[in-house]
Amino acid sequence: MRVLVTGGSGFIGSHTVVSLLEAGHDPVVVDNLSNASRSVLTRIGEIAGRQPEFHEADIRDRDTMGSIAASGFDACIHFAALKAVAESVEEPMLYYDNNVGGTIALLEVLVASDITTFVFSSSATVYGDPNKLPVTEDMPTGVATNPYGWTKIMMEQILRDVQGANPDWSVSLLRYFNPVGAHPSGLIGEEPRGTPNNLMPYVAKVAAGELARLSVFGGDYPTSDGTGVRDYIHVVDLAEGHVAALNTHVGDAGVHTYNLGTGKGSSVLEVLHSYENACGKSIPYEVVERRAGDVAANWADVTRAESVLGWKTTRDLADMCADSWRWQQRTR
Ligand code: NAD
Ligand code: UD1
Repeated sequence: MRVLVTGGSGFIGSHTVVSLLEAGHDPVVVDNLSNASRSVLTRIGEIAGRQPEFHEADIRDRDTMGSIAASGFDACIHFAALKAVAESVEEPMLYYDNNVGGTIALLEVLVASDITTFVFSSSATVYGDPNKLPVTEDMPTGVATNPYGWTKIMMEQILRDVQGANPDWSVSLLRYFNPVGAHPSGLIGEEPRGTPNNLMPYVAKVAAGELARLSVFGGDYPTSDGTGVRDYIHVVDLAEGHVAALNTHVGDAGVHTYNLGTGKGSSVLEVLHSYENACGKSIPYEVVERRAGDVAANWADVTRAESVLGWKTTRDLADMCADSWRWQQRTR
């Protein structure tokens, strides 16, 4: 399949482009490089043996996107978005414009070009503070605690409505839990701008000696060790989930919603100790106040993805930490 991949130079997009190439598909990357570098394309080529076609473009640029789309595609996988939660609180209009406005512009181009299979990067954040665990896809989407989260809830609704108005469309809403790790080659991974906000990239920088210690946000949650619990998923497993969703649902009219996670929660301290094993050092930490907007625990019921997509994760927390650490050492 020839697949338009927006945001395909980013963290999850680049790994998915590798998986698409390895599966024999023909991804075409569109990225404005606002949070990625051009060298990622060369690295993808080194891993997969061939480089994808690349266009430096903004998804809000309807004219450029229209001429790219005119070359014909079987499907679009849409990763392009801004994703820094704290920045979204400071700059909400930037987030609504780039994420929601960008998605609307993209959808207009796809409708006009008759590209009817769409795979969307959603997030477990749409569940808000879940009232039962594990989280199943039929649970209501919740109340977001920040503009980034609202953009995901809004974009999901926009996509359901666009599919309703275009009943031949196939829309897959993939709700990622906590993507971490890096490609085992050490050639591609996550490159957070400035100090990381998310747990594993922060732990990686403490392990590398670039940051002094991890602040553990809250030690009094109702969890096994009092620290927050999340469903961490290896980015290569996540990438393979996109290929499975694409293969299963190309041309399959309807809205298909999946949790992509491992189905297993790990606490902050479990992640920390697993990382210590991976890097062979002890990682200093202190327990501080809870972070505003955090939930105690969140993990996925992945029954639907396993049974319908025939996909399940094969990499565990030790793999995630080992691959993150390999990537961290390469980028130093
Ligand atoms: P990323 O920032 O690494 O990748 C996003 C890519 O999109 C970047 O390469 C950026 O340059 C590009 N981009 C942004 N706005 C664009 C625009 N207007 N036009 C063209 N390109 C644009 O982020 P990621 O972690 O790979 O996330 C990919 C998607 O998955 C995003 O939609 C994100 O919201 C979603 N998601 C991420 C996580 C996570 O923890 N990383 C969790 C849930 C959902
Ligand atoms: C966060 C975002 C979510 C986003 C996701 C991926 C918030 C409230 N949620 O999810 O919208 O989709 O990242 O980008 O920001 N932790 C520490 N110390 C740290 C960092 C994190 O203890 O320095 C803890 C957190 O309290 C949490 C766990 O580690 O319990 C995971 O945090 P993080 O990696 O930021 O992911 P989420 O909060 O789940």
